[in-house]
Amino acid sequence: MPAITIIGAQWGDEGKGKATDLLGEHVDYVVKFNGGNNAGHTVVIGKEKYALHLLPSGILTPGVTPVIGNGVVVDLAVLFEELTALEERGVDTSKLKLSASAHVIADYNRQLDKVTERFLGSRKIGTTGRGIGPTYADKVNRIGIRVQDLFDESILRGKVEGALELKNQLLGKVYNRRGFTVEAIVDDLLSYADRIAPMVCDTGLLLNQALDRGETVLLEGGQATLLDVDHGTYPFVTSSNATSGGACTGSGIPPTRIDRVVGIVKAYTTRVGEGPFPTELFDESGAYLAQNGHEFGTTTGRPRRCGWYDAVIARYAARVNGVTDFVLTKLDVLGGLDEIPVCVAYDVDGVRHDEMPVNQSDFHHAKPIYETLPGWKEDISGARSFGDLPANAQAYVKFVEEISGGPMSVIGVGPARDETVIINSLT
Ligand code: GDP
Ligand code: IMO
Ligand code: MG
Repeated sequence: MPAITIIGAQWGDEGKGKATDLLGEHVDYVVKFNGGNNAGHTVVIGKEKYALHLLPSGILTPGVTPVIGNGVVVDLAVLFEELTALEERGVDTSKLKLSASAHVIADYNRQLDKVTERFLGSRKIGTTGRGIGPTYADKVNRIGIRVQDLFDESILRGKVEGALELKNQLLGKVYNRRGFTVEAIVDDLLSYADRIAPMVCDTGLLLNQALDRGETVLLEGGQATLLDVDHGTYPFVTSSNATSGGACTGSGIPPTRIDRVVGIVKAYTTRVGEGPFPTELFDESGAYLAQNGHEFGTTTGRPRRCGWYDAVIARYAARVNGVTDFVLTKLDVLGGLDEIPVCVAYDVDGVRHDEMPVNQSDFHHAKPIYETLPGWKEDISGARSFGDLPANAQAYVKFVEEISGGPMSVIGVGPARDETVIINSLT
C-alpha cells in the first residue's frame, strides 16, 4: 500500500484524529503536511484521552514514525510542551522527524495575528491567534524563518533583522504596539536548536525512500476543505492548503504515489470562527447537536457553530480532493431526533444550485434546500456492523452516501477507537 491521505471534508473537527488513529496500526509513517497548532485533534484510546495540536496524531501509535512536513508552520515552544506532556504519560516520542524546510512561528507573528484581528473588528476572521496566517504570509513573501536557519546563527540573525525592519514598523506605526528586538527573537529561536537537531532531516527524501521500500505513509491534513486558502470560503479560511493537493506540496510526496484519499465528514456540520455556513442552526436543534456532540473547540475552547449535513459541500470536497472513501463520523450524535433534515442543494435568489456557487457573495446568502429523513431513538454506540444499525440510521447513511460523491466506508458511532463500523477496509 503506498500513500494514503486523510483530509477534512467540511470546516474542520470532523474527527480526523480518530481516523488517523484507526489507521495507525496499518501504517509506518504519519505525516502532518499543513497548518500548525491551530489544529486540535482529540484521540481516545481506551480510558485515555489525548488532545494534539502540532504533532501528528500518529505519534500515539507505537511503531509509527511521526513526521512534521515542510508544509507545516512550527511553534517550537508548543512542540516541546506537547512532547513533554506526552512523554509524561508514557508515550514514546523519540521517532519524531521534523522537516528542515518547515517554517517556524516567531513571536512577532503571534502578536501580529492577534492585533490584526482586533484591528479588523467586525471584518475579523476569528483566527485561533496562534500566528498561523502571518507566518504563511512571510513564507510566501520570502521573509520567513525556516527550521534549517536555526543551525546558522549569522543567517538567522540576518533574516530576523530583515523581517523585523518591516514588522516593527507595522507594529509601532499601524497598531501602536511595542516592537521586538532582534536579540530576543534570535535568542528564543536558538534556544531550541540543540533539542530539534536530532529530529531535523530531509523528510521528503525520507518518505519517498520509505515508499520505495513498500512501506505505507499516511498524510494527515489539519483543518479542512472549506478552510483551504484556495478552495475554501475565502477570506474566512486558514492560510494553508488543507486539501489533498496540499498533501503533496506539504510533504514532498508526488501525486502519482498517493492512491487513496479519505475524506472525513461529520454526520452533521460544524464551524468555528467567522464566515458563511448555509445550514447553520440557531434553534434548539443546533443546541441539541452542540450538547450531544460536545461541540467545543479542542484548541480555543470556543463553542462550535452547528448545522445539518450539507451534501453540496460534501460533493465539492469529493471533487476537489478526489475522495476515494468517506469516513462518516458522529452518527451517534443524531440519535434521539424525530426528523433529520439533509441539505441537498441551495436556493440562491430563487435559482437552484446543486454545486457550490462560484461567487462567495452567492454562498453568503445561499438558503439550504432540505430533504427530511426520519430519525431513530436507539443508542447506536454498540453497533459494530452496518446491520447492527437501526433501519432509519442505515437509511440516513445510504441517503447521504448517494448524494455525497463517494462511498461511506467507515462510520463513527462514538469517540473511542472501537466505536466504529467498518464497511470497506481503508488499508
Ligand atoms: P479533528 O480536528 O478533525 O481531529 O476533530 P476533533 O478532534 O477536533 O473533533 C472531533 C471530536 O469528536 C473529538 O472530540 C472526537 O473524540 C470526537 N469523535 C470522533 N469521532 C466520533 C464519533 O464517531 N462519535 C462521537 N460521539 N464522537 C466522535
Ligand atoms: P482541525 O485540524 C476548525 C479556523 C479558525 C478560523 C480560521 C482561520 O482541528 O480541524 P487560523 O488560526 O488557522 O488562521 O484561523 O480557521 N480553524 C479551524 N477550525 N478546526 C481547525 O483545525 C481549525 N484550524 C483553523 O477558527 O475561523
Ligand atoms: Mg479539531
